[in-house]
Amino acid sequence: MKILKDRIAIITGASRGIGSHIAETLAAQGVHLSLAARNEAALEEVAETLRTRHGVRVLVVATDVSERLQLERLVQRTQDELGAIDLLINNAALERMEDFVESDWNQTAMDLAVNVQGPMDLTRLVLPGMLERNRGHIVNLASLAGFGAHPHAESYVTTKHAMIGFTRALRASLKARGSQVSASSVCPGFVRDVGMFARKQSSAGVRSPALLGSSSPSAVAHAVVQVIRKDRTEKIVNPMPVRPFLLLALLWPRLGEWIMGKAGIQRISERVIHVERQNH
Ligand SMILES: NC(=O)c1ccc[n+]([C@@H]2O[C@H](COP(=O)([O-])OP(=O)(O)OC[C@H]3O[C@@H](n4cnc5c(N)ncnc54)[C@H](OP(=O)(O)O)[C@@H]3O)[C@@H](O)[C@H]2O)c1
Repeated sequence: MKILKDRIAIITGASRGIGSHIAETLAAQGVHLSLAARNEAALEEVAETLRTRHGVRVLVVATDVSERLQLERLVQRTQDELGAIDLLINNAALERMEDFVESDWNQTAMDLAVNVQGPMDLTRLVLPGMLERNRGHIVNLASLAGFGAHPHAESYVTTKHAMIGFTRALRASLKARGSQVSASSVCPGFVRDVGMFARKQSSAGVRSPALLGSSSPSAVAHAVVQVIRKDRTEKIVNPMPVRPFLLLALLWPRLGEWIMGKAGIQRISERVIHVERQNH
C-alpha cells in the first residue's frame, strides 16, 4: 500500500512501549488511528499527544485482546467512528521468563491467547472488509525469537514462531487468490529505551549481547511503515546482519545453539530469572 495518508489503522498494545512509537510514526504519515490495550488512561494520553501533534483522528478502545467479544467491539467501534479499516497492527504481547517445569498452566494459556489467538481472531474480523475493498495490510509484530530460541522462554518463543508461520500462510493465501490485501511480519531483536527488554535492562541490569546490539523503538516503527509500503514478507530489525546466522542455524542447528551460547543469550535469561526469584 503506497499511500498511507487518511488510511485507518487499528494498533493493539498502543498504551506504551513499541506500540506507542508505531502509533506516532503512522500518525506522522497521516493515518487515523484506533488504539487498543487494557489501560484506557494510558491510551488516552498517547491519543491526545497524537491529535495535537499530527492532527489525525484517534479513537481509544479499551480492549483485552484475549477476549473475543472485546475484539468484535473494537472492530465495530473503529468502523462506526473512523471508517473502513485499512491496516491492522497486531503488536500487543506478553513475555514471561520462567522455568517451564514450574510454569502456571493458566499463564501459559493466557500467553497463547494474547500473543497468538487474539491476533488471529482480530485478523479474521477485519479481513472480510479488506477483501471486499481489495485493500488492506496486516502487520504482525514477531521477533528474532520467532526464528531461534532462548532458554526459560518456552511460551514466548512458541508464540513468536507461531506469528511468523501464521503471517507466511496468510500472505500465501492472499497472494494465491490474487488479492491486493497482504500481510507481513516485523521481527525485532533487542529493543532499547522502552518495552519488555528495556524493563529487564533496568530491573535485572542485563545488556543486549555485543554480537546482536539493540535497536531503537522508532527503528521498529519505521519497519512497520516499510513493510506496508513495500509489501515486504518479513523485516528483521537489528543493527547487525543476522540472516547469515539464521541460515547457519537452519543448516546446522547444533552450530546455531553453540553460537547462541557464545553470544551470551543464556546468561541474559538466567540473570532475569535469578533477579525475579530474589524479588518474589
Ligand atoms: N521490546 C523488545 O525488545 C521486543 C523485541 C522483539 C519483539 N518485540 C515485540 O514487540 C511488541 C511490543 O512489545 P513491547 O516491548 O512494546 O511490550 P510492552 O512494553 O510489554 O507493551 C505491551 C503492550 O501490549 C499491551 N497488552 C498486554 N496484554 C494485553 C491484552 N491482554 N490485551 C490488550 N493489550 C495488551 C500492553 O498494554 P496494557 O497493559 O495497557 O494492556 C502494552 O501496550 C510485542 O509483540 C513484542 O513481542 C519486542
